[in-house]
Amino acid sequence: MKDFNYYAPTEVVFGKESEEQVAQLVKKYGGTKVLVHYGGKSAVRSGLLDKICGLLRDGGIEFVTLGGVVPNPRLSLAKEGIDLCRKEGVDFILAVGGGSVIDSSKCIAYGVCFKGDVWDIYLGKAEPKCMLPVASVLTIPAAGSEMSEASVITNEDGDVKLGYSNNMSRPKFAIMNPCRTFTLPPYQTAAGVTDMIMHTMERYFTIDDDMDLTTDLAEAVMRRMMTAVFDVLKNPEDYRQRAQIMWGGSLAHNGLTGCGVSDDWATHQLEHELSGMFDVTHGAGLAAIWPSWARYVMHQNLSRFVRFAVNVMNVPNDFANPEATAIKGIEAMERFYHAIGMPINIKELIGRDITDDEIREMTRKCSRDYQHTCGCLKVLKAEDMEAIYKLARG
Ligand code: NZQ
Ligand code: ZN
Repeated sequence: MKDFNYYAPTEVVFGKESEEQVAQLVKKYGGTKVLVHYGGKSAVRSGLLDKICGLLRDGGIEFVTLGGVVPNPRLSLAKEGIDLCRKEGVDFILAVGGGSVIDSSKCIAYGVCFKGDVWDIYLGKAEPKCMLPVASVLTIPAAGSEMSEASVITNEDGDVKLGYSNNMSRPKFAIMNPCRTFTLPPYQTAAGVTDMIMHTMERYFTIDDDMDLTTDLAEAVMRRMMTAVFDVLKNPEDYRQRAQIMWGGSLAHNGLTGCGVSDDWATHQLEHELSGMFDVTHGAGLAAIWPSWARYVMHQNLSRFVRFAVNVMNVPNDFANPEATAIKGIEAMERFYHAIGMPINIKELIGRDITDDEIREMTRKCSRDYQHTCGCLKVLKAEDMEAIYKLARG
């Protein structure tokens, strides 16, 4: 069993009236001048943005706003945010939106306190010493950034998407009102659930299988998300099931399902090249890669794939043929992806055949010019990455 530190400092304020507390929470965590950062349209259309601004105003908190964050958030907007925060003397960043808005906020928060180019942090060339505090009013359960230590930014110059993790970027608080997720389109709902299940699977498919409680928790999260998603696709205003999904998204990525085990993250790294190159929805990109990754690596820990098939996907255990059981589990997962409208290969994801040149380019980027490996269950070299992309082409 792996030793571990479990650090989940984010205050979660969950429920129908949760956003009413926004001003008092900002004050509690030291904010006096806030950047309210948001996305394209949804928070404006729903009236949430106006409500948050009104509550800050009523609470006597000064703020400036910056919208325009797009999925796969761009470095250029984050740099605009850094300039704005410096000019306005901002000391707290409040993200109103999903993973993209929160990640853009984290990037701005690093950049304001950093003398050089903030991209160097994502390139691994510089280590930030401090950052502004970040918090969120979450509108889409998916990326888990509301409690995570990670942020993922796309540099338009070269379409490079890179993540950076640092515990100090874990948000101070997360306001989660499941009613705010009623307006999510089915595709975003499904992609979000796919992402949170994947955050659990990245930790579940491990070489360490002696931390039983973590494994039990992970299976419960996956099973619950897989049933709740059908209820909310049928009835988008099902509060009870939206709430399961909203809380599930945070538990899937706040470290709980990774205690005592080594995590993998190869599927995520392979996917980041897809969303970097084709600007696809992250969760859908994961569904397009995972079945191929799973078939490629399953012999590294076959019994774990059998356990997944039986305990999560309800496949009958063929004790005489564990490989067949494991494959049935992967096939059942593919049926689940299709049932919620997700792709199971790259062709379904981007709507055309991917070319050999594109696969080579993604392999080059994913392996950082053939210098880096990814994954843990099986450590993937560049040739393995290329093989998985080819298996996934569809
Ligand atoms: O821009 P608006 O109009 O708000 O529309 C958004 C966006 O188009 C829409 N949306 C959000 N809340 C809504 C809504 N539409 C209607 N009603 C609502 N209540 O949903 C779309 C997707 O939003 P986005 O923030 O991009 O989604 P998500 O939370 O999935 O974030 C994806 C990003 O997070 C990164 C991904 O790579 C991707 O860039 N990740 C971040 C992680 C982290 N920081 O820990 C981990 C993840 O693995 C992931 O890599
Ligand atoms: Zn993810």
